[in-house]
Amino acid sequence: MTNRDSIFRDPQQIVDFAFDQRVVDVFPDMIRRSIPGYDTIISISGLMLAEHLKDSEICYDLGCSLGATTLAIAQRLGKKRCKLIAIDNSEAMLTKARKLLTHEAIELMMSDIRQVDLQPAGAVVMNFTLQFIAPKERLALIKKIYAALRPGGLLIISEKIHCSETAEEDYFNAIHAQYKMANGYTGLEVSQKRSALEKVMIIDDIETHQQRMNEAGFSDIKIWFRCLNWASILAVK
Ligand SMILES: C[S@@+](CC[C@H](N)C(=O)[O-])C[C@H]1O[C@@H](n2cnc3c(N)ncnc32)[C@H](O)[C@@H]1O
Repeated sequence: MTNRDSIFRDPQQIVDFAFDQRVVDVFPDMIRRSIPGYDTIISISGLMLAEHLKDSEICYDLGCSLGATTLAIAQRLGKKRCKLIAIDNSEAMLTKARKLLTHEAIELMMSDIRQVDLQPAGAVVMNFTLQFIAPKERLALIKKIYAALRPGGLLIISEKIHCSETAEEDYFNAIHAQYKMANGYTGLEVSQKRSALEKVMIIDDIETHQQRMNEAGFSDIKIWFRCLNWASILAVK
């Protein structure tokens, strides 16, 4: 049973968005009503990551929130005895995630993904999290992931993205706002949440993501999912 998100329903003084208890309480509902294709991205990235991992390898889920992706991987591991390390720096998120994720392969870690040392890994996933890392710190994080991955290791990054053409951007943004309203949010909720995210969620265009991954060392980079202004990219070391 998930709680319905009504955080931005009433007119309010806007403060920067944070992954606090209020958000944790409604997170599954909020993310599904806000990101077109969320369930597809989670289940297919889980499938790809589980398929890619070799027996006994580590997979990191960076910015795991309640662990949806980690759970999707765990459910697809079959007989492989991998370690799925899910990291988040929100105590409220991890407290709830600990209750939800009881699979033996999963280890939850409260840590800042910019600071944490990564052990050698077969795969890394970062779904809708890089956009909350300061742009100047993103390359160092991708380089750290590249260094941790084995040759042939897989990275999946999902993000909201800017379009290179203004007209396309405006059109996708308008349709995205309509998507949210079709999912029960009011115009006020959409605009108040947008204001709360303005300074904390800084998005890149797809070319910036590709160039950054390239600069970190990845050569095989593919966009495997795209819906409006949302995309998921996979890269192989
Ligand atoms: C949009 S949510 C990610 C959703 C999740 N990956 C999923 O697909 O359900 C972003 C998460 O990143 C976490 N986060 C943001 N900055 C972080 C950092 N520097 N270190 C660790 N976690 C971070 C937030 O606490 C939040 O839980």
